[in-house]
Amino acid sequence: MPSPERGSEPEGSSDSATAASAWRPLVPADESTEAQAPIVDIDDDVDSAFEDGDNFSDTTSVSSSIYRGRVINGRKYSSLRDDYWGPSDEQQYETLNAGHLLYLVLDANQPNPLFRSPVTEPHNVLDIGTGPGTWAIDVADQFPAAQVYGVDLSPPPSSWVPPNCFLQVDDVLEEWTWREKFDLIHMRLMLGAFTDKEWEVVYQKCFDNLKPGGYIEEVELDVRVMSDDGSLDPKSLLAGWGQNFLDCAQRAGRPLDTQLTMKAKIEAAGFVDVQEHLYKCPIGAWPKDPLLKDAGRINLAHWSSGLDGWAMYLLTRWGAPEPWTADEARVYVARVREELKRPRLHIWHYT
Ligand SMILES: C[S@@+](CC[C@H](N)C(=O)[O-])C[C@H]1O[C@@H](n2cnc3c(N)ncnc32)[C@H](O)[C@@H]1O
Repeated sequence: MPSPERGSEPEGSSDSATAASAWRPLVPADESTEAQAPIVDIDDDVDSAFEDGDNFSDTTSVSSSIYRGRVINGRKYSSLRDDYWGPSDEQQYETLNAGHLLYLVLDANQPNPLFRSPVTEPHNVLDIGTGPGTWAIDVADQFPAAQVYGVDLSPPPSSWVPPNCFLQVDDVLEEWTWREKFDLIHMRLMLGAFTDKEWEVVYQKCFDNLKPGGYIEEVELDVRVMSDDGSLDPKSLLAGWGQNFLDCAQRAGRPLDTQLTMKAKIEAAGFVDVQEHLYKCPIGAWPKDPLLKDAGRINLAHWSSGLDGWAMYLLTRWGAPEPWTADEARVYVARVREELKRPRLHIWHYT
């Protein structure tokens, strides 16, 4: 019986000529990567980076308190758990939808921009931490014969989903009640959602709930912002942004460096043939390459709308040397947003 595998690249596929310059082998972001020559050509004209399927869960009834959530510092959070950093409100969904578009653009030259796993006729798909459900909805549209489930701590904002898409409210750390096993389990941007031990539990549940030969696919983002040409001032807030949040999350016990740790944990759960693809993702329309320029433009909107929601919980609960006030966090976010508009900023992050 073959073991489930994580997203192998389909046979014969290769990154296209346009996108090839953006991909790099996986290396941690340290001085050695900073020292590398720029591989993304800069466009000199741009100088500013500015519900009822067969597999339905028993635990999906949504009470009004779950719809209301908890409002803290002007943002709405799930009422199912109080230890997850991300809001679940309109602004956050706008950010997540920009993120969805960003990943579609980054993989625009792939056989299927929605996922890389060679699953061509899925019957049962699960999206863990589906957020607004955009990925699950797109996959359900693409495979009308499949049942696509999205699960999240908060109810999705969508009032309409395709008839084969089921967005459910649940905590994936609780018992799974889906009756059938999955062909593909997908996760995206789940960084900071789980402790190390909880990640092990989640990957084990994925392994146990995949059909033989099924796939797990995970997309994560490195929160550290970099530049290859020194255009990011090392003394700027933006340069320290990523480490600030890595430290907050470390103190919270739910690390944000999932991108660096997921492969080993996925393998430890029993998955074989685990493959990783590393993208250098621009922030801003500065690359010359048209695909990367599009990605950068979208990513700038992603960052600009995301900053407040990414920062507020972690800084006001886990900021150093002591938790920040909401106003301190807002001022910091406003300054970082200003820095994003600086001219001739050629910045990027790994994803
Ligand atoms: C940053 S969002 C990403 C959303 C979506 N995957 C996307 O890429 O647009 C992470 C989501 O995971 C959800 N989440 C966090 N912990 C969870 C848990 N224990 N069970 C289910 N969902 C969870 C959050 O509510 C949030 O919507």
